[in-house]
Amino acid sequence: MTSECKSIVCLISGRGSNLEAILRAARDQGWHADGIQAAAVVSNRREARGLEIARAYGVPASVVPHAQFDTRESFEAALSEAIDAHQPALIVLAGFMRVLTAGFVARYRGRLLNIHPSLLPAFPGLDTHRRALAAGVRLHGATVHFVSDQLDGGPIVAQAAVPVWPDDSEDVLAARVLEQEHLLLPRCVRWILEGRVRLQGDRVVAEGIAPQDLLVFAR
Ligand code: GAR
Repeated sequence: MTSECKSIVCLISGRGSNLEAILRAARDQGWHADGIQAAAVVSNRREARGLEIARAYGVPASVVPHAQFDTRESFEAALSEAIDAHQPALIVLAGFMRVLTAGFVARYRGRLLNIHPSLLPAFPGLDTHRRALAAGVRLHGATVHFVSDQLDGGPIVAQAAVPVWPDDSEDVLAARVLEQEHLLLPRCVRWILEGRVRLQGDRVVAEGIAPQDLLVFAR
């Protein structure tokens, strides 16, 4: 590993399938040889299955349990300490289900990436697949975006759109979207660490990436 190594810290809360997609891509595509390293995984929940995934891939995993802190600020101070120990080039919210304060978001501006299971700005928050079905949308999907202080808000890096078929159940739709999440997130992480995608003001600038890679239509 060279001194130019770019580290990623992933924050998780649960299952960790997006974390696994990143770790698998890093391993299978040899990111390490390009100076990219998954340095650490931090969970706000002890029972998060993603912690086992991190360990299986040999990535140090720790827990900063939000419930043990009196205030959001004190939780985030501990979280920042766990993050800053690795001086990451990028912090990925890979299914991290805590609302972050404006102060935390500002501290990591341009280095904080989130994946959300909807075509933002539609359906921020929880239960996105159920709400998409209830709204009768024909198109649903996933969004990777830099994080702002709005819930599931911030400049969009890339989106993957999937159809909603009339007989879809919530689970079927969720699985269709999740398959795309697992493709989209590692690609976005890689682009950012290669310097091909960056935040400029409130816009995402992408260089040398085909527009159809930033907006995927999947069937
Ligand atoms: C994913 O679908 C992710 O997009 C979503 O949580 C799930 C985590 O699954 N994130 C959000 O809803 C953020 N607002 P995973 O732990 O298997 O990656």
